[in-house]
Order: sequence, then C-alpha cells, then structure tokens
Amino acid sequence: MAMTDMTSCPVHQSFDPLAEPYLADPYPDMTAVREEVPAFYAPSIDMWVITRYDDIESAFKDPGTFSAAVGQRPVFPLTDEARAIIAGGFHASPVMSDCDPPKHTRIRRHNLKGFSARRVSVLEPKVWAKATQLVDDIRPGRVDLVPALTYPLPAYMIFTFIGFPDEDMDMLKSWCGNRIAFSWGRPSPEEQREIATNMVHYWRYCEEFVAKRAADPVDDFTSDLIRIHREDPEAISLEEITNVAYGLSFAGHETTTNFTGNAIRQLLSHREQWDALCADRSLVTAAVEETLRYDSSIIAWRRITTRPVTVGGVEIPADAKILLLLGAANRDPKYFSAPEDYDIMRGDVRAHLAFGKGIHYCIGAALARMEARIALDLLAQRAPGMRLVEDQELTFPANVSFRGPKHLLVDWP
Ligand code: HEM
Repeated sequence: MAMTDMTSCPVHQSFDPLAEPYLADPYPDMTAVREEVPAFYAPSIDMWVITRYDDIESAFKDPGTFSAAVGQRPVFPLTDEARAIIAGGFHASPVMSDCDPPKHTRIRRHNLKGFSARRVSVLEPKVWAKATQLVDDIRPGRVDLVPALTYPLPAYMIFTFIGFPDEDMDMLKSWCGNRIAFSWGRPSPEEQREIATNMVHYWRYCEEFVAKRAADPVDDFTSDLIRIHREDPEAISLEEITNVAYGLSFAGHETTTNFTGNAIRQLLSHREQWDALCADRSLVTAAVEETLRYDSSIIAWRRITTRPVTVGGVEIPADAKILLLLGAANRDPKYFSAPEDYDIMRGDVRAHLAFGKGIHYCIGAALARMEARIALDLLAQRAPGMRLVEDQELTFPANVSFRGPKHLLVDWP
C-alpha cells in the first residue's frame, strides 16, 4: 500500500474505510497496513489509525491518554440543519462508551449491578422463546435471515431488558434506522435530517419512559437503576438513566444483529464446520467466539489523545482522533495461529479484542454471546440442511466501525 513518510508520521493517502472494496472486505487492507506500520495518519477520515494488537490493547488500557470522549461523535461534520434539529430536542450527554473517569466509573458501577448475572440469566428462556417463535414463522424456500431472525431477536431482547413495552417496539424500531450512519458514516443531508428527527423522537420517548418508571418502578433494568437513584440521588441522576436507556437500546441491538449474521454466514461458508456443529451442538460456544475474532460486528473503535504519544515509534500529537483497528488486532499473527483461517476448533481464540479491554469492556458481552449462541443452536436443530444462496451479493452498512450483512439469503429446507 502506498505510504508517505512525513518525518516520523507515515501518511496513508489511499486508506479509506468508506470505500466500496473496503466495505465489502476490509481484511486485506487491514492485514497490509498492520504488516507495514503500527500507526499512520489517514486523510480520508482525518484520523490516526493504530493497527497492531499490542498497541490497541495498550490504548484500551490507558484511558488517561486515549480518551473515549469521541466515541459517539459524528466522524464527518453534520449539516447546519441536522445540528439545529439535534440542538432543539436531543439532550444526550456522555454516560458510558463516550465518557471518561471519574464520571464513567460511577455510572458504569451502577450499570454493572443492573447487568447482574441474575438479570442476564433470567433473559435466557425469553431469548429461547422469542427465537423459537421467529424460527417457527420461517417457511421452506428462500428466506432473508436478517428481517426473519437476526434483526428482531436482539431488538426485542434489548427493549425487553430495558423495560420498553411490547406494543411500542415497532415504533421504536422505526426510529432506529440508520443511526449508525449518523455517527460513524457519511450520510447525505436528507438522511441526516431524517435520522436527527428520529433521534429526537427516541430521546423524548426515553425521557418519558424514565419519568414513568421513576414514579412506578417494576422488575426491569431501568427500575433497578431507579431504585439506586432513590437510595442515593448522587449515585446516578434521572437524566443519566435516560442516557443509559437511550444508549443501550442502540449498543445492544445492531451490534448483535450484525454479529449473528456474520456467524451464520461464516459457518455456512465453511460447510464442514457447520455440519460438525449440527452433529455436536456443544460447538456453538466455540463458533460464537471464533466469529468474534474472525468476523466481529465492530471492526474498529475510536479514541482521542489527551497528550502527545508514541505508538510503535510513530509520534501522534495531542487531540488526535484515533481509529483502533480491532479487526486487524484479531488477526495479528503474534496472538493467533493461521489468523486468516476461520476455525471454530482453534485453541487461541479467547485472546480476541472484540469486546474491547479495560474500563470500557463491553457491558453487554454476556447478553450478546447468549443471543448468538441460542440463535445458532436453534438453526442447527431446525435447519441443519440450510444453505447460503450462492450468487447473492452481500452489502454492508457504510461506516467506519459496525459491520454485518444487510441481508443474508438462505435456502431453508
Ligand atoms: C457482538 C455484539 C457486540 C460487540 C462486538 C460489542 C463490542 C463492544 C466494544 C468493542 C466495546 C468497547 C468500547 C470501548 O472500549 O470504548 C463495547 C462497549 C459497550 N457495549 Fe458492547 N458489543 C456488543 C454487544 C453489546 C450489547 C448486546 C450491549 C447491551 C446490552 C452492549 C453494550 C455496551 C456498552 C454500554 C458499552 C460501553 C461500556 C463502557 O463504556 O463502560 N454491547 N462493546
């Protein structure tokens, strides 16, 4: 790849994570840049890109230098119109993924209580029931598994977990569309207008929902946070709980839709591994983990430097926007043997960085793993003979971080 060395900082003119070939398959470029340099500046996105496992892990573990503050900010400037819509009715403030200590430490501590093993484990029968209902509705023939299973399952589960009522789900889903493009892609002015308007609707809904739970808590995650607030209003405010509800309904949804789609795609594309899994469904856990390494739904994540820092000999200034190439780290040969092979039997999979590391480690990891495991287990039971439609052209959302097929056609037996 063409790299220009500008004093101590390599610049990569052609690296563009929104280019069509990269969206279709980012891994050849990721491997090339990881082999070439530990870090470089990419003018296409105005970011410094970090490519190797050790340096990415170090960045995750050094929140004082690598601040999370840019976690949700649009990569590209918004139109004046979109900014005005947001300013008029969307009042989100950082609480977790885009928040630094000490505020992050306080809020995450209380969220971890809400994400207790008990609250996640009581969801397991509900995930089975919802997945079973969705699979029961699939008829033999050609089916798109995204609308049939991988989109509605995590949407239903995260909304149920937060406590949103069943009857609001279709409306909530209609407001979610394209939110990834807003902060991680390059949406057109028309798209920005629509997404910003929906974000305002969604935000108001979350405010009203939290006010309702504050008046009358029940048995759900939001009410757990309300009880913490009632005991000690300094621990977490109602506004912060609104932010958590808003943020979780995003973090817990399309990440898992994309991930489950990636897992089904990889297994069906490696037929012998799918057949082995159908013969021994205890392999599902290993298949989930290997997909997190090989084809995760978050292939890159962002930080901003608080001071100048040297990464693998490359000098990066203060206030530099950073892209951590998780997909490159998860195929770094220093940690994974035959890293370009999808192999659910590999022994070194656990080292992957798909859920991050350190203080921001994904709070929904157990839930995401459970949902994907149950979906794969059920598909292996019900449709071991299903086949990926061979001539389909998979398309992926245009953004720098989130990756999974928009549609996934299979022939259902
Ligand atoms: C396969 C699916 C998922 C993947 C690949 C994924 C990946 C990640 C990653 C890489 C981070 C770390 C970000 C950082 O270091 O700044 C993260 C954080 C987070 N994730 Fe996930 N995630 C998934 C599913 C979920 C689900 C289901 C939920 C909620 C139910 C969730 C909620 C969160 C939250 C709230 C954070 C921020 C935690 C913090 O800043 O302390 N994620 N996730």
